[in-house]
Amino acid sequence: MTGAAPDWLEARAPFDDAARQQSLPLLESAAHNLLESTEPGSTLTVVDLGAGTGKSAAWFRRHLTPLLPDRQLAWHLVDGHAPSLQLAGQAFPDAGHLLSMMSDLPAALGEHLEETSGRPTPGSLLLTCSAVLDVLTQADVDAVLTTLTRYRGLGLFLLSITEDWHLDPADPRDETLARAFADHQRWGAKLGAHGGQTMAQSARQRGIAVETSESPWQLRAPQDAEFIHRFFTERVDAVVEAEPGLQREAADWLELRTRQAGGNEGQGLSVTVDHLDVLLNAR
Ligand SMILES: C[S@@+](CC[C@H](N)C(=O)[O-])C[C@H]1O[C@@H](n2cnc3c(N)ncnc32)[C@H](O)[C@@H]1O
Repeated sequence: MTGAAPDWLEARAPFDDAARQQSLPLLESAAHNLLESTEPGSTLTVVDLGAGTGKSAAWFRRHLTPLLPDRQLAWHLVDGHAPSLQLAGQAFPDAGHLLSMMSDLPAALGEHLEETSGRPTPGSLLLTCSAVLDVLTQADVDAVLTTLTRYRGLGLFLLSITEDWHLDPADPRDETLARAFADHQRWGAKLGAHGGQTMAQSARQRGIAVETSESPWQLRAPQDAEFIHRFFTERVDAVVEAEPGLQREAADWLELRTRQAGGNEGQGLSVTVDHLDVLLNAR
């Protein structure tokens, strides 16, 4: 499979980290649940799904560890893209690494855990992910939920992109481009901008408790100009791939937005990109 470009994951990491500050109440709720359902001294198993090069796992570890005193944390990173997982291995040498497609998760993770840190006791498993649900299919979501239910675990799935973005100053083309981008992201039965909502709805149908919150990226010109330019350029490339008829409009829009991001055009540009966070409790 094709993974995310490592330099893209590197570039977005500070913006993801800042956005996930808004996810802390859900993370604290997950930690509280794990403390309630396990004894001091016991081992908790944390599995980051779609771990990429390990940026999201690093964030989860940094924020979860102080919230889980008197527990041993066994970390595992799962991804379907071998080169990314190899980089994650260098960043996280003390974690288990599992090369697996999400659809194979119930069997593959079961075997991997038996061979490494052992089968988690009920209530001691936390599945995490960040910026992953949009690239999954319904079958992948079902595989994740089957895994969660099997271990009566918790799922903390952050930064699932939605269709909405808000640019100030606004431009009538913003909405057209957002819609065309959302269409592009649904190729191959992927859930795209519906990933977070689909996970939440599918979980509710299985009787799993669901909490949600929001964690938008907040991008500001001119300090974030370089990242904004890359983000917009990649969006425009995707839009043109989905709808070649939008090429001229998208190129003009990108040229204007690049000038605004550089702070050279009137008031500075600000961009909010919406994300949904989902906390699942299958205990
Ligand atoms: C946008 S990246 C996020 C990486 C990481 N969570 C982070 O925040 O830096 C999405 C990751 O999901 C992985 N992925 C996408 N679809 C997958 C699938 N069906 N099975 C396993 N991994 C998948 C990709 O290889 C990629 O590493």
